[in-house]
Amino acid sequence: MSYEPCEKYTDSALRFGDEDHYPERIVGEFLGEVVSNDWVNGEYKHMILKVHARALDSYAGQFFHLLCPSPDGAEVYMRRPMSIYRIDKAASQIEFLYKCEGRGTRGMGMLKEGDDFNLAGPLGKGFTLDPKWKNIVVLGRGVGLATLAPLSQLAAEKGVGITAILSARNPGVVMSKDLFEGFGATTIPVLDTDGTSDVANVEKILNGLIDEGKADAFFTCGSNRLLSLMKKVGKARGVPGQVAMEQIMVCGFGACYVCMRTFEIDGEKTLKRVCRDGPVFNMQEAVGW
Ligand code: FES
Repeated sequence: MSYEPCEKYTDSALRFGDEDHYPERIVGEFLGEVVSNDWVNGEYKHMILKVHARALDSYAGQFFHLLCPSPDGAEVYMRRPMSIYRIDKAASQIEFLYKCEGRGTRGMGMLKEGDDFNLAGPLGKGFTLDPKWKNIVVLGRGVGLATLAPLSQLAAEKGVGITAILSARNPGVVMSKDLFEGFGATTIPVLDTDGTSDVANVEKILNGLIDEGKADAFFTCGSNRLLSLMKKVGKARGVPGQVAMEQIMVCGFGACYVCMRTFEIDGEKTLKRVCRDGPVFNMQEAVGW
């Protein structure tokens, strides 16, 4: 097993040192060793990988580009972008929570303890926490909650209070409740089955949290509907926000422009690369999808 970074990805052009709040980080290609890869429910799996120390040097909201094995003998040509679910520096482990639905993630789901897994990263720009914020609200749905989990880890480390609104189809697929609560978050599951995930109810919850002084900033991932709602409430009540965008990618580091999305800045439409300019963006500039 090798943990040496590949030269291809350590070129200076790929160093993320040009942003004020991002110290220089070197992108690497690593072989991780699968520690476990278990089902958490009927749809999602949780992978724990032992990785090189450099792969642990990641921000909440960044992602890795994964070279998934084939589930069926035919080639899987492209890497798959996947946000980091959790980092355990003491154990040299990185974790992913993913839905087994396409060929890449089905192939990933076949990996067993002790297998090698090739990953490139950490890539992209992650979440930022303003030191003035004392309480934040994260709102996610499905696997989008996996992207928000490390933000809660970061917030907890900085003593920032967290309310996590966990949206899901039914109680069986409410993701990451224990993980959020482990970081001291107050969790509020909202479900399709009892109607609590309805936009009007979530809007009421968000406004209530603002009234209670528990919403200095909003964060979301995993649902266009929830993004639109948070944007609307954030704009009306003056709450800043960030969104982690999901997008199909090829290169993952800004070269191919496959991941372009439209944003609106000061009334002007503009295109940005989700992999390189994001995947975390100012919520008020995101147009949705
Ligand atoms: Fe190639 Fe974003 S995936 S530029």
